[in-house]
Amino acid sequence: MKYFIRNRSLKSIIIKIIFGLISFVLVFVFDFLLDSSFNETNSKTHLALSPNIQLNQRSSTNNQQSIKSSSYEYNSTHLWSMRLADDNYFHLAHLFPCRIVEYPRGPIIDKIDSCDHSSANEFSIQNTLQAQKWLYEHQHPMDCTNKRFAIIHNFAVSGFGSTMHQIAWAFGKAIADNRIAVYQIPGNWLYGTCNSSTPDCVFLPITNCSIPSKVDRNQTIKINANIGYWSKPIHPFIFQKRTFNWYRAQLLFYLMRYKPETLAYAQNIIAQYFKPPSIDLHHPYIAVYVRRSDKVQNREMSQAYTLKQYFDLFDADVRRANISTVYINSEDEQVFDEFAQINKEKQDYYKLLKITVQRNVVFGSLISMMREHRGKIILEFLSDLFIEANADLHVGTLTSNWCRLVDGIRLVLGKTIPFYTPENQFLMEK
Ligand SMILES: *[C@@H]1O[C@H](CO)[C@@H](O)[C@H](O)[C@H]1NC(C)=O
Ligand SMILES: *[C@@H]1O[C@H](CO)[C@@H](O)[C@H](O)[C@H]1NC(C)=O
Ligand SMILES: *[C@@H]1O[C@H](CO)[C@@H](O)[C@H](O)[C@H]1NC(C)=O
Ligand SMILES: *[C@@H]1O[C@H](CO)[C@@H](O)[C@H](O)[C@H]1NC(C)=O
Ligand SMILES: *[C@@H]1O[C@H](CO)[C@@H](O)[C@H](O)[C@H]1NC(C)=O
Repeated sequence: MKYFIRNRSLKSIIIKIIFGLISFVLVFVFDFLLDSSFNETNSKTHLALSPNIQLNQRSSTNNQQSIKSSSYEYNSTHLWSMRLADDNYFHLAHLFPCRIVEYPRGPIIDKIDSCDHSSANEFSIQNTLQAQKWLYEHQHPMDCTNKRFAIIHNFAVSGFGSTMHQIAWAFGKAIADNRIAVYQIPGNWLYGTCNSSTPDCVFLPITNCSIPSKVDRNQTIKINANIGYWSKPIHPFIFQKRTFNWYRAQLLFYLMRYKPETLAYAQNIIAQYFKPPSIDLHHPYIAVYVRRSDKVQNREMSQAYTLKQYFDLFDADVRRANISTVYINSEDEQVFDEFAQINKEKQDYYKLLKITVQRNVVFGSLISMMREHRGKIILEFLSDLFIEANADLHVGTLTSNWCRLVDGIRLVLGKTIPFYTPENQFLMEK
């Protein structure tokens, strides 16, 4: 099984920008799609959110709570807000065929033995905890004075996943140069409605050092987050032996630690659409993300796959393991009709989980509702990501930056059952 990690050539970056604009428009389409289902539930959401936020909010006051929530947080089950692979997961993993999964990147091939749950597998939970603690401490020194900094600015105008991958690159570049990464404020990040316009709108702060006022190109430099590609990744010494696939995923995971507000939003969405209303009560489940539309039209994906093509990948495996709950999401409403058809043929074997219900699009009404609605859509995206990250099995296409985010996060959480993708063949031919 081969997965491809693409190099970003200049050409592909230009193409990305164009696609970015297209996806941007699509975001508005989504916005409208989800609008009607939100109006009704929104006030409820906010009411439900507030107690949680108050409890966990970082504040400048010096009480115990704020110190706790601004520190590196994990316990036996969770790393920040994400649930780590547990005994149930590993028990399940034994029911699946073992594979050596290969993530090629040029001549280098990063391999994962899907059945190795020892610490010899680099995606072990111990390794993740070590990496996240290291990254956290690098970004949160006891004393910020006389440290070296890199101010990340100029976020890419592209899809959410693509933007995050480029920020991870900039973060990696800062760390390679022994610098603390900070975001320029205000930034130009499209995907948040808070005033800083950086990923800190929805994720925990990248650092607790303040932004240096002087850029002297020595102690403090700036890094453009819209040009980067990993030509020669440099890992910090402590992670020198780790694969690029592992290191990149750890950087992304660190950057995408959910803020209490974001987590509460995701949990609230789950409570609205899932019965029972908690994600923990739906295991084991499969998460399928079907990416189509612009990705296919602009030929980043060689073709759109039918939902049946995705189901054919995992159907036999999941039946052997008695898994029948499937979460499906897509920007393409049609997948749910396809699902109904498939499930009919399968005598209703599968139980469907989904989070959005109504999607009537009228393009003209989008423009006037920009920022606020876009912010909501991002919280929707992150709710989807939360559900996918929590899944036991993962299905999608890794030419999608969104699916790659999911793939990275599930690996960081210690879930090494191979990602099911219909794209293997296409990618191997490349
Ligand atoms: C671990 O942390 C998570 C999230 O913060 C929390 O929900 C859970 O109850 C904690 N578990 C234990 C065993 O403390
Ligand atoms: C940043 O966080 C670290 C670790 O929690 C702490 O030791 C340090 O005092 C904090 N620095 C600032 C400026 O708040
Ligand atoms: C964000 O900026 C607007 C306009 O400058 C200002 O009115 C508002 O108070 C700011 N919000 C926060 C939370 O700082
Ligand atoms: C760069 O900064 C370091 C301290 O961070 C200082 O020792 C050195 O002299 C500076 N170099 C230049 C060329 O300013
Ligand atoms: C799946 O369910 C069948 C029927 O209930 C049972 O016989 C079988 O042992 C189960 N398999 C697993 C792996 O749990």
